[in-house]
Amino acid sequence: MKQAQRIVSLPPYLFAEIDKKIAQKRAEGVDVISLGIGDPVEPTPSYVIDVLCKQARNPENHRYPSYFGMLEFRKAVACFCKKRFDLNFNLNSEILPLIGSKEGIAHIFLAFIDPGDITLIPDPGYPVYNVGTLLAGGKPHYMPLLSKNDFLPDLTKIDTEVARKAKIMFINYPNNPTSAVASVEFFKEAVSFAKKYDILVCHDNAYSEIAYDGYVPPSFLEVSGAKDVGIEFQSLSKTYNMTGWRIGFAVGNEMAIEALGRVKTNIDSGIFNAIQYAGIAALESSQDSVKQMCALYAKRRDTVAAALNRMDLEFTTPKATIYVWVKVPEGYTSESFATHVLEKAGVVVSPGNAYGPSGEGYIRITLSVKDERLKEALARIENSL
Ligand SMILES: Cc1ncc(COP(=O)(O)O)c(C=O)c1O
Repeated sequence: MKQAQRIVSLPPYLFAEIDKKIAQKRAEGVDVISLGIGDPVEPTPSYVIDVLCKQARNPENHRYPSYFGMLEFRKAVACFCKKRFDLNFNLNSEILPLIGSKEGIAHIFLAFIDPGDITLIPDPGYPVYNVGTLLAGGKPHYMPLLSKNDFLPDLTKIDTEVARKAKIMFINYPNNPTSAVASVEFFKEAVSFAKKYDILVCHDNAYSEIAYDGYVPPSFLEVSGAKDVGIEFQSLSKTYNMTGWRIGFAVGNEMAIEALGRVKTNIDSGIFNAIQYAGIAALESSQDSVKQMCALYAKRRDTVAAALNRMDLEFTTPKATIYVWVKVPEGYTSESFATHVLEKAGVVVSPGNAYGPSGEGYIRITLSVKDERLKEALARIENSL
């Protein structure tokens, strides 16, 4: 048996690797605290769980779901987008439910990338942009996100030849892993660039609802003309503590939504209807649970900020996301600092270089850990330095 070349050349998935390290340390008896993966520890709100339980008992929901998601779910998505971003979408052609946004992000490349085509992806960035490109036979072209540019890509630095060959550009604000945010001005620049070079813009807005200090993240599609060139991926995972449920959606450009839908109908069979009903409950809720989570994360962010200041480590206080992007101390690399923290403090952090070469010199700390464990992890890191 021989594995396909496209699999052989794939890097291992970052968090699968981190999970292995955690398991190994725990087997050695170490009380490991993970500040690695962004995965809420608080439960899904009970009003969402109640709907799932009720709908799971309805035999109507035990059959194959609709390939394009339930109309009721698409209506809830449309209402959410109208209320939240003042955006209007056609229920049948501009909204596509996804089995988590990761699924849609991975599949969009199959819809637009032929072997050898270029994708423009953020560096550092969510690893699926790179892997999705490789699985489709494309060539990822990194757009460095640098501190001096507020972690926004400098579109003027992209070589004209590269831009001409590019088919997709991924952007992601609020950003994972840097936690940077983008203004509508930057989104306007991205729309002009995409129009000039005939590129599909995919905006990953997985953290649009997790923001602090009154900051309200915009949608890329709020920009005039954005729907001509782009789609936006949204996720219920972080917003409603539903990472394990696997539900999200894409909205925007009709041609792109149709293409992604065509890939998906040939590969998967949609989202369990009971989960879609639960998703409707989440999207149509008062959003109070989201506000409570943001208040909790803001407190944790302040705890992390105070500890990092005591340790004299450089970082930007996040306005959004559940991540803090931290410069490693002098003399360390991302990897050596992450290893130091694991060996000496029993704490897992994500090495920045795992998100792309421009992530070198950083680590990412997640806020999705219980307060007491977070405090203990920070104290242990402080003692290890
Ligand atoms: C930037 C970004 N996009 C997408 C996802 C995937 O989210 P989902 O659970 O909807 O697949 C994540 C998850 O961590 C993420 O950080």
